[in-house]
Amino acid sequence: MTLRTQIKMLVALAFITANVAVMLISPSTHAQDNGKKGEPSSFTPVVEEPFAVVLKRDKANKARVMAEHQKLLEARYDLSRHVDPSVTMTRGKPIPVGPTARLKGVSWEQLGRMSPEEIRDKGLFPYLPLPHVNHPVGGMIFPQMEIKALPRLERFDMDFDLPEHFLPEFPPAIFLTTRPDLGDVSKGQVVTMSNFYDLFNGILNPKQLDGLRLLVTQFPQQQFNATADRKTEKPEGMLGVACFDCHLNGHTSGAAHLVGDIRPQENRRRIETPSLRGVNIQRLFGSQRALKTVEDFTEFEQRAAYFDGDPVLATKKGLNILDRGSQVHDMSEFQELLDFPPAPKLNLFGRLDRAKATESEVRGEELFFGKGNCAACHTPPYYTDGLMHDLQVERFYKPRMEGGMLITKQGAIKTFPLRGIKESPPYLHDGRLLTLEDTVEFFNLIEQLNLSAQEKKDLVAFLRAL
Ligand code: HEC
Ligand code: HEC
Repeated sequence: MTLRTQIKMLVALAFITANVAVMLISPSTHAQDNGKKGEPSSFTPVVEEPFAVVLKRDKANKARVMAEHQKLLEARYDLSRHVDPSVTMTRGKPIPVGPTARLKGVSWEQLGRMSPEEIRDKGLFPYLPLPHVNHPVGGMIFPQMEIKALPRLERFDMDFDLPEHFLPEFPPAIFLTTRPDLGDVSKGQVVTMSNFYDLFNGILNPKQLDGLRLLVTQFPQQQFNATADRKTEKPEGMLGVACFDCHLNGHTSGAAHLVGDIRPQENRRRIETPSLRGVNIQRLFGSQRALKTVEDFTEFEQRAAYFDGDPVLATKKGLNILDRGSQVHDMSEFQELLDFPPAPKLNLFGRLDRAKATESEVRGEELFFGKGNCAACHTPPYYTDGLMHDLQVERFYKPRMEGGMLITKQGAIKTFPLRGIKESPPYLHDGRLLTLEDTVEFFNLIEQLNLSAQEKKDLVAFLRAL
């Protein structure tokens, strides 16, 4: 072989390598090809493109990405604002009213009388799993109302999708199990590094106060870090995210993510940030992981969830190992103080106080414990059995790709508590149910209850009282 051919071959090899590298490092455009061409891998490549190149391409694609997802949402839901001003969250935000799901040529009553097979075969199920804004890319996304207050949480490749009226109030109230006498201790503020000390000094013990400090401290994360593989332009965003960026004020801002513990990418689920109110009385943590303690989850969030369950990437972007005995413990102790909001109509058994309840609420309670059989899983006083259940939702749809997500069987999910439920829309692990009315329509189908319009109203009235 002459020197000339050797050089030619080297140049060709370099060209191929460069192309393969580009394919591997831009999951937004090549994730599917990647899976088909090579063997599927559990690992995300660590190779990266120059930041400026990604920034330019992602920004150029953003309008298309948003328009495609908006089309999917509009096809599924009526996203306009309908609220009930007489029923508000603690600090006054009116709760959204539905049902929001769009039906295809049938009424709710007709749908309620159909079998799961008929609904599946005719493609009529209104509550399919909800994909991420850009499912092949994924990552943490924060609502616009939160980005207004904390601009460091803005991504350059996509915006949050659901309108503000379907989200928890901003900022949410904070109730402490140890100081119920104080009521809402947030004083209407977003708790961050700059005010946590003033707000909580003198109310918490020093260990809990330090736990809160760590919960509002930013640590590097997959999309928010200082490497070229990030999705934030703002230098502050490069420092990372705080636990309370998502679990805002110990509740939730409605921020979403993809679960870290599933591969491949298209099988991962969109996951809505759950409230941390009431973690003290819960037994399982994570919708499917079922970790056994708040300590485990606290430790796991930064070791795994922040980096999509991939320690290889974590090491590169800034893994932050928390010390179990001091830091993890302090953070958990504070979380365990977060209480549900007051429910003035419930008695000491968590049941309606008949002297305070309306007739509709009482009928709703009877349905919840009787015909609806909701209490089989949502047991009082907190309305969770501390277990997981497979609702077998896949009875109602055929597996297929939608919005970059494989809509398929989802398996057992944790029974989320229903205490304070009116303050945490949207509902279900992925937020696919935008209002309480949608949750009742959903369970009416799941359990094949065939409830009347009045019965559905009564059940919603009861859920609002929890
Ligand atoms: C994307 C924003 C986000 C950030 C930042 C975040 N979490 Fe979470 N958290 C979630 C989501 C989403 C879940 C649900 C995960 C699941 O169901 O698999 C969750 C679940 C939890 C749970 C279990 C709750 C339950 O009801 O099962 C705890 C406890 C928790 N997070 C604590 C933390 C702590 C501590 C931190 C900081 C180290 C943190 N989280 C940072 C989004 C976030
Ligand atoms: C077989 C057990 C079971 C029964 C019966 C049941 N649920 Fe649930 N419920 C669950 C599980 C599991 C979830 C979480 C599902 C998910 O996130 O995908 C849930 C979620 C919910 C949610 C949303 C919670 C949240 O934080 O997003 C509401 C509201 C709800 N159920 C109301 C009801 C009502 C009303 C009934 C009766 C008509 C009912 N459930 C019957 C197990 C059950």
